[in-house]
Formats: sequence, structure tokens, C-alpha cells
Amino acid sequence: MSDTAKAIVVGVGPEAGLGGALCTRLAREGFHVFVAGRTPEKVERLALSIRNAGGRATAVATDTTKEKDVIALFDRAETDGKGSLDLVIYNAGNAAMGELHDMQASFFEDVWRVGCLGGFLVGREAVRRMLPRGRGTVVFTGATASLRGKATTTAFAAAKAGLRSLAQSMARAYGPKGIHVAHVIVDGGIAGDKIIQGIPQFAQAMGEDGLVSLTGLADAYWYLHNQPKAAWTHELDLRTFKESF
Ligand SMILES: NC(=O)c1ccc[n+]([C@@H]2O[C@H](COP(=O)([O-])OP(=O)(O)OC[C@H]3O[C@@H](n4cnc5c(N)ncnc54)[C@H](OP(=O)(O)O)[C@@H]3O)[C@@H](O)[C@H]2O)c1
Repeated sequence: MSDTAKAIVVGVGPEAGLGGALCTRLAREGFHVFVAGRTPEKVERLALSIRNAGGRATAVATDTTKEKDVIALFDRAETDGKGSLDLVIYNAGNAAMGELHDMQASFFEDVWRVGCLGGFLVGREAVRRMLPRGRGTVVFTGATASLRGKATTTAFAAAKAGLRSLAQSMARAYGPKGIHVAHVIVDGGIAGDKIIQGIPQFAQAMGEDGLVSLTGLADAYWYLHNQPKAAWTHELDLRTFKESF
């Protein structure tokens, strides 16, 4: 890996989360990583931890639902340090649950803004920057809800399905122009802080290797980025060996 490659990861929270694991892995592979998330303390903490380990990372507080924030993030990544933007990952998501009959329109819209609109803004800025060079990788994080709506995922599934469709359109439009667009379906709970700290009883009930491994996920994104042009994956799904599907 060249020491001038840059990556942007949008939707980063704790170090032990998918966004955190992706940033850490990419920095280890030699990327200058732009760590983007909406909570400044979280992205700064992770960027500092990467720098302390000898990697290159810049924290950029970004609300992915705001067009001006997303454009400023990409401008910053382009001008900060040497090298070109080779990889962009859209990882933001809020698995907000709720049933339609007592759902406020504002709730539905907020979930869609993070789960789908943010992906459009990030995907558009990525492609605008990568097209002139005719190369780059853009990966979107999906979930079980990308493929099916359950009774309580009314808003979340609609947003994730929209994100999946966006990824398909982008792949068909820009693949032939050299940009690899991929969508990763994470089918099950992730072994990160959100579940292990947030709902420990669930984590415990899932048992050993019952949550999707952060290392395994980071390996999968890395694999997608390194695929040769003549053998690109568009969609990849990951689940634990215990998952019924
Ligand atoms: N966790 C799971 O079990 C699970 C399962 C299947 C799929 N997924 C998908 O995997 C991805 C990552 O999930 P994760 O749970 O591991 O979380 P994570 O990668 O640790 O963090 C994602 C971060 O996105 C940030 N975010 C939310 N809204 C944002 C916004 N408007 N602008 C910028 N950043 C924003 C959140 O920041 P704050 O922390 O500051 O709110 C959150 O920490 C999501 O797309 C999710 O749908 C997760």
C-alpha cells in the first residue's frame, strides 16, 4: 500500500464499533484516514489513538445529513496531506425501532436522513472526486434490514433499502468508469460497544462467537477494496455461524 493513499470513513463512534475498527485497520494498512462522525470527542479520541499507534488519522466532526458538512469533509481530505482519495466508506446508521401506527413523521425522516440521504451525499462527493482519476472504492454498510422490513423496523428498513438501491445505481453508473461500489450486509448484531455495552443481556444470550466479529468485518472491507477490476464483488453478506437466515 502506498503511503499516500487516503480513506474517509463516515459514521464513526467508539473504537470498538464498526467505524472504529475500519479506521484502525486502514491506518494499519498505511492509509491516512479521515475519521468522520457527528460527535467531536469520539472522532478525536479515535484519531488520537491511531496517531499514538504510529498511524495517520485526522478527525473531522461531520453530520452526514448536512450537505455543507459532507462537502467540507471531502475538501479537507483532498487538501490535507499528500496523496489521493482511494477509499470511502459510508457506515452511519441508526437502528431506531418503532411501529408505524404511533410513529411521528419527523422520526421517519430523521432515520432516513442518516440511513439514506447521508449515503447519497457521501456517495456523490466521493464519485465527483474519483471520476477524474478513474479509480477508487466506495463501500456502504447495510444491515439485515437492507433486505427485509420487520414490524418494528418501519423507518430503518426503508432507509437501509434505499441505501442499497443507491449503491446498486452507483455501481452500474460508475463501475464502468473505474469506480468500485460495494454494499456490505451485516446480518446480525456486531460485537462492538453498541451491543456489548448497550445491551449486555443480548450479547450474553448470543454466546461465544454469536455476534459478528469486528475483525472479520474489517477484513471483508479490506478484501473488497483490494479486488482486481476483473473480479469485483458488488454485494457481500456476513453473519455468524449461529445465525439462521
Ligand atoms: N451495531 C450492530 O449490531 C449493527 C448490525 C447490523 C448493521 N449495523 C450497521 O453497521 C453500521 C455501524 O454500526 P455500529 O453499531 O457498529 O456503529 P459504529 O460503527 O460504532 O458507529 C456508527 C456511528 O455513526 C454515527 N452517526 C450517527 N448519525 C450520524 C450522523 N448524522 N452523522 C455522522 N455520524 C453519525 C454515530 O455516532 P454517535 O455515536 O456520535 O451517535 C455512531 O457512533 C451502521 O450502518 C449500522 O446500521 C450495525
